Amino acid sequence: MGAGIAEDDGPSYFEKRHPRLHCTLMMVLVVVGFLPLMHTLWNSIYGYQEQPEFWVKVPGVEGLERGPGAAAAPVFNVTLRVNNKATNRPFCAGRVSAAVAYAGVQLARAELPNGFCVPGLAVSSVPMSATSDGLGIPSELYERMASQRRRHARVSLEVQVRLDDCGLCGPPPVMLWCTAVLHGRPKGPFLCTFAYMLKDGEPLPQTDFVYSS
Ligand SMILES: *[C@@H]1O[C@H](CO)[C@@H](O)[C@H](O)[C@H]1NC(C)=O
Repeated sequence: MGAGIAEDDGPSYFEKRHPRLHCTLMMVLVVVGFLPLMHTLWNSIYGYQEQPEFWVKVPGVEGLERGPGAAAAPVFNVTLRVNNKATNRPFCAGRVSAAVAYAGVQLARAELPNGFCVPGLAVSSVPMSATSDGLGIPSELYERMASQRRRHARVSLEVQVRLDDCGLCGPPPVMLWCTAVLHGRPKGPFLCTFAYMLKDGEPLPQTDFVYSS
Protein backbone atom coordinates (compact mmCIF):
# COMPACT_ATOMS: atom_id res chain seq x y z
CA MET A 1 0.00 0.00 0.00
CA GLY A 2 2.63 2.49 1.15
CA ALA A 3 4.91 1.48 -1.68
CA GLY A 4 2.33 2.66 -4.24
CA ILE A 5 2.21 6.17 -2.75
CA ALA A 6 6.00 6.41 -2.62
CA GLU A 7 6.16 5.45 -6.27
CA ASP A 8 3.71 8.25 -7.28
CA ASP A 9 5.73 10.87 -5.46
CA GLY A 10 9.01 9.99 -7.11
CA PRO A 11 10.13 11.13 -10.57
CA SER A 12 8.29 9.30 -13.34
CA TYR A 13 9.95 7.04 -15.87
CA PHE A 14 9.45 9.73 -18.56
CA GLU A 15 10.96 12.43 -16.34
CA LYS A 16 14.03 10.30 -15.64
CA ARG A 17 14.47 9.34 -19.29
CA HIS A 18 13.93 12.84 -20.81
CA PRO A 19 14.55 15.43 -18.08
CA ARG A 20 14.93 18.38 -20.48
CA LEU A 21 11.91 17.49 -22.60
CA HIS A 22 9.88 17.05 -19.42
CA CYS A 23 10.94 20.49 -18.20
CA THR A 24 10.03 22.12 -21.53
CA LEU A 25 6.64 20.42 -21.58
CA MET A 26 5.89 21.64 -18.07
CA MET A 27 6.82 25.20 -19.03
CA VAL A 28 4.61 25.08 -22.10
CA LEU A 29 1.72 23.83 -19.96
CA VAL A 30 2.21 26.64 -17.44
CA VAL A 31 2.34 29.29 -20.19
CA VAL A 32 -0.75 27.88 -21.92
CA GLY A 33 -2.54 27.79 -18.56
CA PHE A 34 -1.73 31.45 -17.95
CA LEU A 35 -2.78 32.68 -21.41
CA PRO A 36 -6.45 33.33 -20.53
CA LEU A 37 -5.33 35.21 -17.43
CA MET A 38 -2.86 37.29 -19.46
CA HIS A 39 -5.55 37.98 -22.06
CA THR A 40 -7.96 39.22 -19.38
CA LEU A 41 -5.24 41.34 -17.82
CA TRP A 42 -4.30 42.84 -21.19
CA ASN A 43 -7.91 43.64 -21.96
CA SER A 44 -8.53 45.23 -18.59
CA ILE A 45 -5.55 47.51 -19.18
CA TYR A 46 -6.01 48.28 -22.88
CA GLY A 47 -9.70 47.56 -23.32
CA TYR A 48 -11.47 44.93 -25.37
CA GLN A 49 -11.13 45.41 -29.07
CA GLU A 50 -14.82 45.78 -29.66
CA GLN A 51 -16.62 47.81 -32.27
CA PRO A 52 -18.65 50.64 -30.77
CA GLU A 53 -22.43 50.57 -30.96
CA PHE A 54 -24.00 53.11 -33.27
CA TRP A 55 -27.44 54.61 -33.55
CA VAL A 56 -28.88 57.66 -35.25
CA LYS A 57 -31.24 60.42 -34.22
CA VAL A 58 -32.80 63.10 -36.39
CA PRO A 59 -33.41 65.98 -33.98
CA GLY A 60 -34.28 68.59 -36.61
CA VAL A 61 -35.97 68.60 -40.00
CA GLU A 62 -36.71 71.49 -42.33
CA GLY A 63 -38.13 71.90 -45.80
CA LEU A 64 -40.24 68.74 -46.05
CA GLU A 65 -42.49 70.47 -48.56
CA ARG A 66 -44.19 69.16 -51.64
CA GLY A 67 -41.57 69.11 -54.39
CA PRO A 68 -42.67 71.27 -57.32
CA GLY A 69 -42.92 74.83 -56.09
CA ALA A 70 -41.15 74.19 -52.79
CA ALA A 71 -39.05 77.12 -51.66
CA ALA A 72 -36.22 75.27 -49.94
CA ALA A 73 -34.25 72.06 -49.96
CA PRO A 74 -34.95 69.52 -47.24
CA VAL A 75 -32.53 69.62 -44.30
CA PHE A 76 -32.13 66.75 -41.86
CA ASN A 77 -30.03 67.34 -38.80
CA VAL A 78 -28.65 63.90 -38.11
CA THR A 79 -26.84 62.91 -34.94
CA LEU A 80 -24.74 59.77 -35.05
CA ARG A 81 -24.41 58.42 -31.51
CA VAL A 82 -21.34 56.32 -30.82
CA ASN A 83 -21.18 54.13 -27.73
CA ASN A 84 -17.50 53.46 -27.24
CA LYS A 85 -17.79 52.47 -23.57
CA ALA A 86 -16.57 48.91 -24.06
CA THR A 87 -12.99 50.00 -24.64
CA ASN A 88 -10.67 52.76 -23.59
CA ARG A 89 -9.25 53.08 -27.07
CA PRO A 90 -10.57 56.02 -29.09
CA PHE A 91 -12.64 55.25 -32.19
CA CYS A 92 -11.86 57.48 -35.15
CA ALA A 93 -13.05 57.74 -38.72
CA GLY A 94 -11.11 59.77 -41.25
CA ARG A 95 -14.08 60.65 -43.43
CA VAL A 96 -17.83 60.25 -43.01
CA SER A 97 -20.72 60.51 -45.41
CA ALA A 98 -24.38 59.89 -44.76
CA ALA A 99 -27.45 59.47 -46.91
CA VAL A 100 -30.97 60.02 -45.60
CA ALA A 101 -33.74 58.15 -47.37
CA TYR A 102 -37.48 57.81 -46.92
CA ALA A 103 -39.35 54.84 -48.38
CA GLY A 104 -36.19 53.84 -50.19
CA VAL A 105 -35.69 57.20 -51.90
CA GLN A 106 -32.65 59.24 -51.01
CA LEU A 107 -33.63 62.74 -49.90
CA ALA A 108 -30.41 64.25 -48.60
CA ARG A 109 -26.71 63.72 -48.10
CA ALA A 110 -24.15 64.85 -45.55
CA GLU A 111 -20.37 64.85 -45.60
CA LEU A 112 -17.88 65.17 -42.78
CA PRO A 113 -14.62 65.38 -44.73
CA ASN A 114 -12.55 65.56 -41.55
CA GLY A 115 -14.25 62.65 -39.83
CA PHE A 116 -14.50 62.37 -36.07
CA CYS A 117 -12.88 60.81 -33.03
CA VAL A 118 -14.73 59.44 -30.03
CA PRO A 119 -12.68 58.87 -26.87
CA GLY A 120 -12.72 55.50 -25.15
CA LEU A 121 -15.12 54.74 -22.29
CA ALA A 122 -17.56 57.35 -23.62
CA VAL A 123 -20.76 57.83 -25.55
CA SER A 124 -20.43 60.70 -28.01
CA SER A 125 -22.50 62.53 -30.60
CA VAL A 126 -21.42 63.30 -34.12
CA PRO A 127 -23.71 65.97 -35.60
CA MET A 128 -24.21 66.21 -39.36
CA SER A 129 -26.47 68.26 -41.53
CA ALA A 130 -27.84 66.43 -44.57
CA THR A 131 -29.31 68.37 -47.45
CA SER A 132 -30.01 68.11 -51.16
CA ASP A 133 -29.70 70.03 -54.41
CA GLY A 134 -33.41 69.48 -55.04
CA LEU A 135 -36.19 71.56 -53.53
CA GLY A 136 -38.77 69.96 -51.27
CA ILE A 137 -39.53 66.25 -51.57
CA PRO A 138 -41.35 64.35 -54.33
CA SER A 139 -45.18 64.67 -54.12
CA GLU A 140 -45.66 60.94 -53.74
CA LEU A 141 -43.38 60.81 -50.73
CA TYR A 142 -44.92 63.94 -49.31
CA GLU A 143 -48.38 62.34 -49.53
CA ARG A 144 -47.13 59.12 -48.02
CA MET A 145 -45.55 60.90 -45.07
CA ALA A 146 -48.62 63.07 -44.52
CA SER A 147 -50.87 60.02 -44.56
CA GLN A 148 -48.65 58.17 -42.09
CA ARG A 149 -48.79 61.15 -39.75
CA ARG A 150 -52.58 61.41 -40.04
CA ARG A 151 -52.89 57.73 -39.10
CA HIS A 152 -50.36 58.21 -36.28
CA ALA A 153 -48.29 55.55 -37.99
CA ARG A 154 -44.57 55.48 -37.56
CA VAL A 155 -42.59 57.68 -39.94
CA SER A 156 -39.08 56.35 -40.11
CA LEU A 157 -36.06 57.36 -42.14
CA GLU A 158 -33.30 55.10 -43.36
CA VAL A 159 -29.89 56.58 -42.69
CA GLN A 160 -26.82 55.01 -44.26
CA VAL A 161 -23.52 56.14 -42.86
CA ARG A 162 -20.22 55.36 -44.51
CA LEU A 163 -17.04 55.49 -42.43
CA ASP A 164 -13.73 55.65 -44.25
CA ASP A 165 -10.31 55.12 -42.68
CA CYS A 166 -11.50 54.13 -39.25
CA GLY A 167 -8.39 52.87 -37.57
CA LEU A 168 -9.67 49.74 -35.89
CA CYS A 169 -12.07 48.68 -38.64
CA GLY A 170 -9.40 47.85 -41.18
CA PRO A 171 -8.93 49.10 -44.72
CA PRO A 172 -12.39 48.55 -46.25
CA PRO A 173 -14.93 51.28 -45.53
CA VAL A 174 -17.66 50.49 -43.04
CA MET A 175 -21.35 50.93 -43.73
CA LEU A 176 -23.84 51.55 -40.96
CA TRP A 177 -27.47 50.85 -41.79
CA CYS A 178 -29.59 52.86 -39.39
CA THR A 179 -33.22 53.70 -38.75
CA ALA A 180 -34.35 56.98 -37.22
CA VAL A 181 -37.96 57.56 -36.22
CA LEU A 182 -39.43 60.98 -37.02
CA HIS A 183 -42.91 60.34 -35.66
CA GLY A 184 -44.74 57.57 -33.87
CA ARG A 185 -43.73 54.65 -31.73
CA PRO A 186 -41.63 52.77 -30.90
CA LYS A 187 -39.21 55.65 -31.06
CA GLY A 188 -36.07 53.55 -30.67
CA PRO A 189 -33.16 54.10 -30.54
CA PHE A 190 -32.40 51.22 -32.90
CA LEU A 191 -28.82 50.07 -33.19
CA CYS A 192 -27.34 50.40 -36.64
CA THR A 193 -26.22 47.25 -38.36
CA PHE A 194 -22.56 47.23 -39.20
CA ALA A 195 -21.14 45.94 -42.46
CA TYR A 196 -17.89 46.18 -44.33
CA MET A 197 -17.99 47.48 -47.84
CA LEU A 198 -15.88 44.93 -49.63
CA LYS A 199 -15.75 46.64 -53.00
CA ASP A 200 -13.96 49.87 -52.30
CA GLY A 201 -15.00 52.92 -54.26
CA GLU A 202 -18.51 51.64 -54.88
CA PRO A 203 -20.87 54.54 -54.29
CA LEU A 204 -23.85 54.44 -51.95
CA PRO A 205 -26.98 53.18 -53.67
CA GLN A 206 -28.24 56.27 -55.42
CA THR A 207 -31.89 56.89 -55.94
CA ASP A 208 -31.48 60.63 -55.85
CA PHE A 209 -34.06 62.92 -57.33
CA VAL A 210 -33.45 66.41 -58.69
CA TYR A 211 -35.95 69.10 -59.44
CA SER A 212 -34.24 71.26 -61.96
CA SER A 213 -36.83 74.03 -62.10
C1 LIG B 1 -30.05 72.12 -37.89
O1 LIG B 1 -28.71 72.42 -37.51
C2 LIG B 1 -28.30 73.71 -37.87
C3 LIG B 1 -26.83 73.84 -37.54
O2 LIG B 1 -26.45 73.01 -36.53
C4 LIG B 1 -29.16 74.73 -37.13
O3 LIG B 1 -28.77 76.04 -37.48
C5 LIG B 1 -30.61 74.51 -37.51
O4 LIG B 1 -31.44 75.38 -36.78
C6 LIG B 1 -31.03 73.09 -37.25
N1 LIG B 1 -32.37 72.88 -37.78
C7 LIG B 1 -33.32 72.27 -37.09
C8 LIG B 1 -34.64 72.17 -37.74
O5 LIG B 1 -33.11 71.79 -36.00
